[in-house]
Amino acid sequence: MKIFITREIPQVGLDLLTAAGHTYTQYTEKAPLSPAALVEGCLQHDALLSVGPNKLNTSFFSQVPNIKAVALLSVGYDNLDVHAATEHRIPVSNTPGVLSKATSDVAFLLMLAVSRKAFFMHQSIKNGQWGFFEPKANLGIELYGKTLGVFGLGKIGLELAKKCKAAYDMHIIYHNRSRNEEAEALLGARYVSFDELLSTSDVVSVHANLSPSTQNIFNAAAFAKMKPSAIFVNTARGGLHNEKDLMEALQQEKIWGAGLDVTNPEPMTANNPLLDLPNVCILPHIGSATKETRDAMATLAAQNLIAALKGEKMPNVINH
Ligand code: DGY
Repeated sequence: MKIFITREIPQVGLDLLTAAGHTYTQYTEKAPLSPAALVEGCLQHDALLSVGPNKLNTSFFSQVPNIKAVALLSVGYDNLDVHAATEHRIPVSNTPGVLSKATSDVAFLLMLAVSRKAFFMHQSIKNGQWGFFEPKANLGIELYGKTLGVFGLGKIGLELAKKCKAAYDMHIIYHNRSRNEEAEALLGARYVSFDELLSTSDVVSVHANLSPSTQNIFNAAAFAKMKPSAIFVNTARGGLHNEKDLMEALQQEKIWGAGLDVTNPEPMTANNPLLDLPNVCILPHIGSATKETRDAMATLAAQNLIAALKGEKMPNVINH
């Protein structure tokens, strides 16, 4: 069968597809793939391996009746209309589990970098601003014994909580759709209301899916409830925070700093004023960007497609 892949993916995934007797086309242009080009590509293939935020909605599915299965190269699937896929009887898979360690590393990195203003300090040296040793200058915030509040305690949030407990003996609180018994037993994590998470945490780290109920949930009202010394970290989706409200909260010192691996929209433009604030560190959505993790994601996506094209259930199917 023929598979359309919307970006170049690691060789290990391509090799698996080839070994299973499939052929593929990878979209290699620098420009984003337009919805029309996505449909066009799909019409010439039997299955789709979708990388990035391609909108997989009713309009898309109704134009590609030939497509037998879709594998996403991501754990998040806010770009997918699950009902539309199910209505069109197209199984769709994602890549859960394999990116939890790498993505939680980036959340940890952002938390620590913001707590010590690391990226701003680096920039200040480049700007020729390394002066005398001043005991009251360049002060950061220590994380030892502080409280980590995880919004959305799934696999990635749990990995971050484990790191924070081991490194800084942090207290773990969380707000989630349901209780996470593993985190409670392992780390003494405590389930709290959203308001308590905001008002009690020294670091709030976001790991929830983007959905209508979480869109913009970190807005002016939420930032106003946080401690003035709190750090906000988002490695999930930029749509969960309101960028204008975050900017104001930082400027008005309602919170202390922010570390973002995701923005809304992506890519963020170079003239975004958030980039100029001292207690902010922004990365270009690199949570899963290690060789090991991207290989594992490509492997999982290929395995899911191979199963579907044999008429078997995809191991990581999202819909049924
Ligand atoms: C994911 O897997 O959801 C990452 O954010 C990449 O999109």
